[in-house]
Amino acid sequence: MKKQKTSSTPSARPRVLVLHGPNLNLLGVREPQHYGSVTLADINLALARRAELAEVDLESFQSNHEGALIERIHAAKIQEVRYIIINPAAWTHTSVAVRDALAAVAIPFIEVHLSNVHAREAFRQHSYFSDLAVGVISGLGHQGYLLALEYLLNKLNTD
Ligand code: DQA
Repeated sequence: MKKQKTSSTPSARPRVLVLHGPNLNLLGVREPQHYGSVTLADINLALARRAELAEVDLESFQSNHEGALIERIHAAKIQEVRYIIINPAAWTHTSVAVRDALAAVAIPFIEVHLSNVHAREAFRQHSYFSDLAVGVISGLGHQGYLLALEYLLNKLNTD
C-alpha cells in the first residue's frame, strides 16, 4: 500500500511559519490608529503569494489562546519549519511560556510588531522575545511582515 504523506513529513520546499498572537484576528477594525486598516486575511494572503513565488511553503496561524500557540510552535519542530515570523502581540510583554517554547524548538525567528512599541506605553517597551530573535521589526505596519519574509527568503537562498 502506498505510504500516506503526513503533515510531519518533511517538505521538499523550505517551510516558514507565521504566528499571530491575541487580538490580531481583529486587525482592520482594531485601533486603526495603531494597527492600520489592513486585515489579517490580507496580510496572510500577501505573505502566501510572496512565498509561493519563491517556492516556499508558508503557513499562517493566529490564536487568542497561549497554549494553542505554544503547541503550534512545538509542532513546527516536527514539521522541520526553517524560520518563524511572530507577532506575539500582548504576549510580547507577558509570556515567559511562549518565549520558552521558541527557545525549546530553537527555530530562528523574527519578531514583528505593526506599531512602534517603543513610542507607546512603557509596559510595551519590554519584550520577552527580542533578545532571542534574529531581528525585530516594529512600527512599519503590515509591511513589517513582508520585509521579514523578504529577509528570510534571502537567507534561505544563501543558507
Ligand atoms: C503589537 C503591539 C503589542 O504591544 C500589542 O499588545 C499588540 C500588537 C503590534 O503589532 O504592534 O497586540 O504586537
